[in-house]
Amino acid sequence: MSNILLTGSTGVLGGRLLQELLQHTDAVVYCLVRGTDADLARRRIEDVLYCYDEARTLAGQAWRVVPVSGDVSQPWLGLDEGVWRELLASIDLVLHCAANVSLVASYNKIAPVNVQGVQHVIDFCLAGAAPMLFASSFSMVGDKLYEDGFVLKESDLDVGQGFENMDYERSKFTAEKLIRDAGRRGLDWVVVRPGNIWGDSVTGCYPLTQTKVKGIYYEMLRSLVEAGMTFPSDEDFDITPVDYVARACLHLATHLESSRHCTYNLTNPRPITYDGIVAALRRHGYTVRDVEMHRYFEALQQGRLLRAGKPYRSVFTDLLSVFYDGGDEKERARYDTTQAEAALLPAGIACAASDQALISRYLDYAARVGFLAAPRAQGPLAEICDAALPQGFMERLYDGDLSEAAPSP
Ligand SMILES: NC(=O)c1ccc[n+]([C@@H]2O[C@H](COP(=O)([O-])OP(=O)(O)OC[C@H]3O[C@@H](n4cnc5c(N)ncnc54)[C@H](OP(=O)(O)O)[C@@H]3O)[C@@H](O)[C@H]2O)c1
Repeated sequence: MSNILLTGSTGVLGGRLLQELLQHTDAVVYCLVRGTDADLARRRIEDVLYCYDEARTLAGQAWRVVPVSGDVSQPWLGLDEGVWRELLASIDLVLHCAANVSLVASYNKIAPVNVQGVQHVIDFCLAGAAPMLFASSFSMVGDKLYEDGFVLKESDLDVGQGFENMDYERSKFTAEKLIRDAGRRGLDWVVVRPGNIWGDSVTGCYPLTQTKVKGIYYEMLRSLVEAGMTFPSDEDFDITPVDYVARACLHLATHLESSRHCTYNLTNPRPITYDGIVAALRRHGYTVRDVEMHRYFEALQQGRLLRAGKPYRSVFTDLLSVFYDGGDEKERARYDTTQAEAALLPAGIACAASDQALISRYLDYAARVGFLAAPRAQGPLAEICDAALPQGFMERLYDGDLSEAAPSP
């Protein structure tokens, strides 16, 4: 491979994949980036690259990174005709990691990037006879996630899953369908389905300040540390380090003789539980108290979970409020990783165990870059109070009117 087109290089996975490409190939990497300012595009790419490569060992290779102004949601990838033709003639592999990863955005907002965008990349690959690796997601499993005993095989696609809860999941499923259809029209494809992508398993690095959308799991850590309070849950929790996904992507995309038209579940074969993550935070030195789940959610929803005298909320608690319906539905599905392990283990590519050492590495990094308070600086912690504080719009309005109407002394 001498010319590779990479999308999503300013994101969590694409940035780490770029590091892998610069370290382990001689290819020139064309990075499709939104915006027309080439200097800014290069800075944004390098910000994420050097978040992972903190010692900037790859600075001498930066000439192999070529920012290309484009947008996958646009026909022709938003490229000028001349650039489109030039790339068609030279690109011999496309690694497609760009996506809208919002878990709450509507299908209308997500589909132009995650569905039509994939079709535009397919069009490019078919026109230029370039193979394509597509980063899908384990969340294409949809509501089968809650089915006891369900195991998602790597060859599975339509298993009768529904997508009522999340349009992001639907978009990934629909995109995988487009890719398989294009395979029947001559596209050479590989699909990977990463689990929850966390930081680098060796360094702990993760672009917490460089990317717009931080992984919800980091927001979860932040919320646990800030509130110092949670509820017990023995639900499985996937931790898939970004270096595992990036190394797997490069290996699979460059071994098409065995990976062509295959899908790989890149989840951690040894998941941890939510309780296990909380226990690791405690062992790392943080205080996290358990309260019964219904009590926690009731307090959250009624504004009685207070921190420093104010109702506590965070990105994580907001998301919990959206998805928690008071039921006992649990994530029960498992992901079969047989094919991924058979392809990757012989090449020395293994997913790190979700153990204390790994989680401590992530916590240390997040504290070092100021995303989390260090254990000794944790606090003030949240408390549940019995009476709700007035906080609603109507209450504020009413109180405001009363004070304005109050007679002056
Ligand atoms: N993160 C996870 O836990 C996870 C888990 C499973 C699967 N995945 C999949 O892995 C892939 C990478 O995810 P990520 O976590 O790296 O996402 P991310 O950090 O949010 O990065 C998304 C990337 O896509 C780019 N992008 C968005 N819209 C675009 C458009 N219209 N045209 C061109 N580029 C566009 C973004 O560019 P800007 O910088 O301009 O916004 C950014 O570089 C995605 O396909 C995602 O669905 C992620």
